[in-house]
Amino acid sequence: MSVVLSSTLLYKVSHAHGQRSLASVGFCYHRRTMPQPQNAAAVSIRVATKDDAAICGKICFDAFHAISSAHGFPPDLPVPEAGLAVISALFSAPGFYCVVAEIDGRIVGSNCLDDRAVIHGLGPITIDPSAQNLGVGRKLMRAVMDHSQHRGAAGIRLVQAAFHNRSLSLYAALGFDIREPLSCMQGRTQQRGIPGCTVRKAQIADLENCNALSHRVHGFDRGADLAQTIEHGTASVVERGGRITGYATDLAFFGHGTAESNQDLQALFASAESFGGPGILVPSRNHELFRWCLANGLRVTQPMTLMTTGLYNDPSGAYFPSILF
Ligand SMILES: CC(C)(COP(=O)(O)OP(=O)(O)OC[C@H]1O[C@@H](n2cnc3c(N)ncnc32)[C@H](O)[C@@H]1OP(=O)(O)O)[C@@H](O)C(=O)NCCC(=O)NCCS
Repeated sequence: MSVVLSSTLLYKVSHAHGQRSLASVGFCYHRRTMPQPQNAAAVSIRVATKDDAAICGKICFDAFHAISSAHGFPPDLPVPEAGLAVISALFSAPGFYCVVAEIDGRIVGSNCLDDRAVIHGLGPITIDPSAQNLGVGRKLMRAVMDHSQHRGAAGIRLVQAAFHNRSLSLYAALGFDIREPLSCMQGRTQQRGIPGCTVRKAQIADLENCNALSHRVHGFDRGADLAQTIEHGTASVVERGGRITGYATDLAFFGHGTAESNQDLQALFASAESFGGPGILVPSRNHELFRWCLANGLRVTQPMTLMTTGLYNDPSGAYFPSILF
């Protein structure tokens, strides 16, 4: 099972509940009594198993629901089933390292690391709301960062909710630098195509060209991720002048895309009827692309931030990250 499936499940779950707007979901978080650690040493970390997905999926939903609702934003996960779907998929996905935190044998949170590329992607990390701000998150961060270092990654990246002071502070304290403000955008572009650009489903034969493009823009490729999404049927490419000038693994919260120009990304965006999950993550400092999205009727649902540690080069092309990076 791949992360693509998570993205699709998230989308399907939200639509199965008839939610055109994620904001329409009511606040339903109930605080539970949780054993409090006397000190950080009372928290133990272990590798996650498939059997942990039910409790961790509930914690994931509760944690995101609580923080988003507290700030008046629609939750990333519209219903508890979406939390379960995402965590179940990640805990059993090839190329993911996932850990859980326990206090007195009771699970209080989890964290995941996508180690399919030379740059690793971190998240989602979620702690039971009744056990937050007690050092559990820091331990879960350290666990996957240590694993990443052990695997010889060139760097780690993540995307955080820009309104969340605690995650911003924790990540920055652990060495993550703010790289890019992002606007999560949802809707259907009024312009339904870009002259000179053709968008089609990606095929496995496109992999080499897409990877080469990613190397030119980012300095590394995400071929394993792309191959899985091609197999799953969510990936697309844009062609201009008879060659591939951009690709997207999915036009969704869990999808990323890389292109030679904004024109190519616009063609990809215009090919979607809507974006899976809360939306796509548009780099807000890409003024031309951001304004084109706004002029085309897309709406900003929440501000987010791309943070990185280790190797980072300013991309020499156009791109949009997934919720992982
Ligand atoms: C974000 C989250 C994972 C952090 O885990 P946690 O266990 O609550 O955090 P910790 O107690 O380990 O660490 C919080 C740190 O932030 C600091 N902090 C908290 N609020 C702060 C603020 N307003 N300004 C500065 N520092 C702050 C704390 O002092 C602590 O610092 P320290 O590690 O140096 O002592 C958790 O709160 C959570 O699940 N939140 C909801 C879901 C979410 O947003 N997940 C992240 C997705 S990107």
